[in-house]
Amino acid sequence: MKTRITELLGIEHPIVQGGMQQVGRAELASAVSNAGGLGIITALTQPSPEALREEIDRCRAMTDKPFGVNMTVFPTINSPDYKAYAQAIIDSGIKAVETAGTPAVAEIWDMLKPHGIKIVHKCTAVRHAVSAERKGVDAISIDGFECAGHPGEDDIPGLILIPAAADKVNIPMLASGGFGDGRGLVAALALGAEGINMGTRFCATKEAPIHDRVKQAYVDNDERSTNLIFRKLHNTARVAKNSVSDKVVEILKEEGSTFADIQALVSGVKGKEVLETGDVEAGIYWAGMVQGLIHDIPSCKDLIDRIMAEANAIISERLARIAG
Ligand SMILES: Cc1cc2nc3c(=O)[nH]c(=O)nc-3n(C[C@H](O)[C@H](O)[C@H](O)COP(=O)(O)O)c2cc1C
Repeated sequence: MKTRITELLGIEHPIVQGGMQQVGRAELASAVSNAGGLGIITALTQPSPEALREEIDRCRAMTDKPFGVNMTVFPTINSPDYKAYAQAIIDSGIKAVETAGTPAVAEIWDMLKPHGIKIVHKCTAVRHAVSAERKGVDAISIDGFECAGHPGEDDIPGLILIPAAADKVNIPMLASGGFGDGRGLVAALALGAEGINMGTRFCATKEAPIHDRVKQAYVDNDERSTNLIFRKLHNTARVAKNSVSDKVVEILKEEGSTFADIQALVSGVKGKEVLETGDVEAGIYWAGMVQGLIHDIPSCKDLIDRIMAEANAIISERLARIAG
């Protein structure tokens, strides 16, 4: 398949691995790139810009294919030195960056653009996609309500969000949120996108650097196994359903409750513990509704090959037969 996304990113298949805190390390990014997709290292998983440089070098030792870096600009008070991370990306000769987060991310675009780095901006609203296009990003990753991570506050699923964005955006678009198989890829193409971005599905692969029990949880869970937390804080996050995220939802339903009441439950340290020890009740971990479509733990190559074979078969057999 050739689309404006494969052309822009210099990849064989229109499949991108979204930035993933703690998961987007060299092992996974290189496996996705070696399989013909675009693997992405998550900048802020690294404790310093220097460590990011080393992680990029490590990834380069594992693949000679293109890979990218994710820069997520969070709405936090004690921000990391985003510009120093961006400088590490520039110095390392990275050609594609996925950005996400608050409008402050525009400062990162201004740093990256003069170096010819392709910017794929991930956002969850048509108006944000239009604004990012106007400010000069190269592609949009439009992330529907189904997604793991931050789906925004509008609650628009991909079936509406993707074509609504395609109606307004001229640059190439990735469809994101809820994708995991060839049917999804064909649907994304039909809705006006030119490729897919996947997060949760790539967590359940051999190369994902997380505990096997967490991978198995993504297989065992179904499409109902997520919780939306932080709704009333207007920073909605879709995470795996477990006793901890159930408790967070319950506490935030109480009148007068604030972030302070749930802070300990949602700590990043606890989330990291889930991924490292495989104790899926230790804290919060990210997951999307696409869990309902995850039934195995293949290598990234087997997964991507399967998605492409399934998509091509749907187009050339099933759809061709119907259209005929
Ligand atoms: C474990 C995990 C960690 C994530 N961390 C980030 C992150 O740090 N920055 C970001 O922009 N998106 C992050 N995401 C969102 C993904 O990049 C992607 O947009 C999302 O997973 C797409 O939805 P899907 O899970 O249904 O494929 C994360 C997703 C997962 C599953």
